[in-house]
Amino acid sequence: MTYDLENLFSFLRFPSISTDSNHASDVRACADWLITKLKDIGLTTELHETAKHPVVIARNQHLPDRRTVLIYGHYDVQPVDPLALWTSAPFEPVIRDGRIWARGATDNKGQMMAHILGVEKTLREQGELPVNLIFLFEGEEEIGSPNLAAFLQQHREELRCDVIAISDTGMVAPGVPTLGYGLRGIACCEVILRGPKGDLHSGLFGGVVANPAAAIARIVASLHRADGRVAIEGFYDQVRPLEPWEREMWASVPGASDTDYLSVTGSPSLFGEPGYSSAERTWARPTAEVNGIGGGYQGEGSKTVLPAEAFAKLSFRLVPDQDPKEILLQVQRHLEHHCPPGVTIEVKPGHDGKPYVADPNSKFGLAARAALRSSFNAEPVLIREGGSIPIVQTFREILGVDTLLLGLALSDAQIHAPNENFPVENFEAGIRLNQALLIELAK
Ligand code: BES
Ligand code: ZN
Repeated sequence: MTYDLENLFSFLRFPSISTDSNHASDVRACADWLITKLKDIGLTTELHETAKHPVVIARNQHLPDRRTVLIYGHYDVQPVDPLALWTSAPFEPVIRDGRIWARGATDNKGQMMAHILGVEKTLREQGELPVNLIFLFEGEEEIGSPNLAAFLQQHREELRCDVIAISDTGMVAPGVPTLGYGLRGIACCEVILRGPKGDLHSGLFGGVVANPAAAIARIVASLHRADGRVAIEGFYDQVRPLEPWEREMWASVPGASDTDYLSVTGSPSLFGEPGYSSAERTWARPTAEVNGIGGGYQGEGSKTVLPAEAFAKLSFRLVPDQDPKEILLQVQRHLEHHCPPGVTIEVKPGHDGKPYVADPNSKFGLAARAALRSSFNAEPVLIREGGSIPIVQTFREILGVDTLLLGLALSDAQIHAPNENFPVENFEAGIRLNQALLIELAK
């Protein structure tokens, strides 16, 4: 195995699942391992404790007349369930069919390690980097970065930089370099409906009291109109329309046609807001999703019960200029208004993050495109992202700088799902990309 892959495999073996408190010590061990790795390549490091998982910082020696580039990544990962669907163990990385299979292979350890190894290579070959570098790696991205904004405020001066680069987003098709210039925002909440004081026999009590499971189905169904548009009052009021040049450009982006979306998802047909292509729907239109719904008997066979409670977990993907807090208020009003009689409703707000859009033709946008072009030997495509990295807009608000999204995640990378994978080819391209990027950003 190559040195680069050995490094990535060691990194992938930590089960650094940020949401699961049983894995807190694994997250911590992963941060400690990173510190050692970053020290070994010649950087000075800092480990900052937070209320949950530590922030890892590393720098080269900063010189006054050079640009300062901050590279962000996250070393935490999503949970692995359902475990039974993995072909190989999530934290025992293996290579099959030219891909690395493990939780975090793409999101975000593989993409993040490519940056570290790119820097290591440049330092080894050139003795120094063309820029002042700040690595900022957090362990809480997958839980909404609850402690990072405060950290940025507290360390604004030391984190002052000219531009930020992140590889934690998508690449539209293999070999097609992709610059992201936008991200959707997000707002999450949980709805709990309560009926009788305990579960009831459905023969003895069904028909005399409301069934919370039936009520949650009604509430969930009220979120969309039959044609796919979100039915929440005011939801689209602040949505910035797509620019005509974006619609034109996206119509020919490889890997992002309606047919591509059909084959990647395996769904029998496409469904969504009328009047928009799949790429437009995911990159520049807001949505409402049910991430989980439950209540009542889930076991084998039937059980004649009228459940006491039912719940749904909801999330809303947002676009400029929607405000997550405002959207959560609209959602709460909507849910309360559509709550059927006979149950009580509780809406628990979850984490949220603002949407982001930048100019792909800015000085640094052009530098990123040059680096993508030279390291992939192909013309980069420009997209906005359907996913969210809420800290990106916070970076702009606190540090006053924009972020370049240099994505290496393929649409079949299965991030957040069983059998997450990352092509070895993308890993190697990521290392070259980091080297080219620092050169271009220094110009
Ligand atoms: N790396 C993803 C975001 C992503 C993936 C953006 C692919 C674009 C393309 C990130 O780790 C992630 O999963 N973010 C969460 C944010 C949430 C937990 C606040 C998301 O988008 O659900
Ligand atoms: Zn993720």
